Amino acid sequence: MPIKSRIRTIPHHPHPGIMFRDITTLLKDPVGLRTTVQEIVKRYQSQHISKVVGIESRGFIIGAPVAYQLETGFVPIRKQNKLPAQTVGRDYQLEYGSDRIEIHVDAIQPGDRILLVDDLIATGGTAEAAVRLIREMGGDVIECCFVIDLPDAGGRKRLEQLGCKVFSLCEFG
Ligand code: PRP
Ligand code: ADE
Repeated sequence: MPIKSRIRTIPHHPHPGIMFRDITTLLKDPVGLRTTVQEIVKRYQSQHISKVVGIESRGFIIGAPVAYQLETGFVPIRKQNKLPAQTVGRDYQLEYGSDRIEIHVDAIQPGDRILLVDDLIATGGTAEAAVRLIREMGGDVIECCFVIDLPDAGGRKRLEQLGCKVFSLCEFG
C-alpha cells in the first residue's frame, strides 16, 4: 500500500476550512514508517549530506531516522524559546496563524551540506524561514524534502523561487 493511502485527512482541523493531513496513521504502521524513511534515504544516500535539519515537531519524527540511516548529524529547528543555548530566529506566517522558529548559532558550519526535512509543505512559510536561517549560517541547502506537498498552497514554488530544490513523497491537491 503506498504512502499516500496511509495518511488520514481530518476536515476542519484545527480551523474551519483546513483539510488536516494527519501522518499519525502513516507513522503507526510499521511498513508505512519504514517505507517513508527508506524512500527518503534512497534519494540522498549518495548526496554527501553532512547534516539533516528537521523542523519541530513532525519534522523531527521523519528527520531523525533519516539522519541515522544517512549516518549524518541531526539538527533541530524549534519553535520560539525551546532551544537552551544561543539561537538565531525568524518569524513566519502559517496556513493558520503565525510563529517563530529558532536554531542554535553553533548548529551549522559554513559549507555544511544540508538536507531540510519536514512532514509537510503548505504555504512554505516555515520552510522558507528555515532555509533563510540555514543560509545565514553558511549552510548549503541541497534539497528540501517533505512527506506531503500541498501544491495549491504554493510552498514548492516559493522555495523554488529562493533557488531551492524541493522533493515530496506525495501530494494532496
Ligand atoms: C506544520 C507542518 C510544517 C508547517 C507547514 O507544522 O509540520 O512544519 O506546518 O506549513 P507552511 O508550509 O504553511 O509553513 P506546525 O507549525 O503545525 O507544527 P507541528 O509540526 O508542531 O504540528
Ligand atoms: N500544516 C499546515 N497545513 C497543514 C495541513 N493542511 N495539514 C497538516 N499540517 C499542516
